[in-house]
Amino acid sequence: MPSIVIVGTQWGDEGKGKIVHLLGKEADLIVRYQGGPNAGHTVVFDGKKFVLHLIPAGILIPGKTCVIGNGVVVDPLSFAEEVRLLERRKIRIRGRLFISEQAHLIFPYHKILDVAREEARGGSEKIGTTRKGIGPAYADKVERVGIRLIDYLEPETFPKLLEQNLALKRGAINRTSSVGKIRKEILRQAGSLRPFLKPFARDASRFLNQALDRGRKVIFESAQGTLLDIDFGTYPYVTSSNPIAGAVGAGCGVGPGKIGSVLGIVKAYTTRVGEGPFPTELTDAMGEFLRASGKEFGATTGRARRCGWFDALVVRRAIQVNGISDLALTKLDVLAGVDPIRVCVGYRYGGRRLDHFPNSRRVLDGCEPVYADMPGFGDISKEARRFEDLPGNARKYIRFLEKILGLKFSLISLGRSRDETIRRSARSLWGRGA
Ligand code: IMP
Ligand code: MG
Repeated sequence: MPSIVIVGTQWGDEGKGKIVHLLGKEADLIVRYQGGPNAGHTVVFDGKKFVLHLIPAGILIPGKTCVIGNGVVVDPLSFAEEVRLLERRKIRIRGRLFISEQAHLIFPYHKILDVAREEARGGSEKIGTTRKGIGPAYADKVERVGIRLIDYLEPETFPKLLEQNLALKRGAINRTSSVGKIRKEILRQAGSLRPFLKPFARDASRFLNQALDRGRKVIFESAQGTLLDIDFGTYPYVTSSNPIAGAVGAGCGVGPGKIGSVLGIVKAYTTRVGEGPFPTELTDAMGEFLRASGKEFGATTGRARRCGWFDALVVRRAIQVNGISDLALTKLDVLAGVDPIRVCVGYRYGGRRLDHFPNSRRVLDGCEPVYADMPGFGDISKEARRFEDLPGNARKYIRFLEKILGLKFSLISLGRSRDETIRRSARSLWGRGA
């Protein structure tokens, strides 16, 4: 089946949006399978900047169909706002965007709980969430009290489920707000949001499998990154879903046999938003330089991203847990002028050398990166379209990363617009059946 899963190999913000926009030209459908409005996918299209939070980045490509899978948590209010925002900017939405009717919804009380839980953790225990209600909404799903889109659309079902939830959360809600006020607000919004959402609702698994069986090309676009994965990330400083490729199955009802290839997006250095371990973090002038040069500010929260050197242990974990078949390198241009460029090739902990990303919180907090230094390079022309067009030391840096990762970069991105990309392999990225 011609399909690609696009995953982040670090802590998110690797530039997945741009790569989706580039490969989306060749696709028929673009699908999100996890996360929610915590994501921020920045795409520059026709010189205009778009930031998408919930809707797949593929919506910006005329004629493509986009699907929000059941694994995504949908905030009906911010979904409606995002649709209106795109429509105001002349992006046609109707008839080419669908939401799984099994997707769970985020309500205002989830956001209240998100903030309350962060405040309760306090200080260094804080996760630094986006405060969009993601964790509490997924918690409700697993606790079997969640409200799905299909439940919301049934006027008889929804109020009963809402009451059940308000009763369960009464104490926590009343600490900062009031259950009565929240109930009134939710029911009032449901009056107008229900008819608005109805045309988007689909049995998305059926829809996607039919499309795949007809040979349609599908991109599965993940949000966040592997090190924010609830299972394989730096727990508990993670998001509440599985951004890894394997989650496509549970997140849209498409079996593993229908996945063609897994493309890992790798930033030429490392960033992280929010709290949690980050062994190669730079808190000095070099970190400042990367933040300014790479415009590293959160697309959803505006927070300054923490910046650091490339970490091979992070990306090697991502290659392993996602079954990555191809890699794309992004933001190489940001490193222009940096000399030397450091690459973390291992960690040192208690006199021992580690070659694999550790799972122990203690080890992670206490480990020191081991660096290899690479010579710097000057400006990279955004006109470069072949590997040979890159400065010698930039090629050297890329080859070194490929050696320590054991995989080649099929795509090298040099700027925000989709043309500013080197496509290296003649081989199709679409995998089996392409
Ligand atoms: P939550 O997803 O809002 O619960 O936040 C959990 C952690 O994931 C925090 O560190 C967030 O900053 C981080 N996070 C969530 N979404 C993104 C994203 O799209 N890019 C980068 N970090 C994210
Ligand atoms: Mg982002």
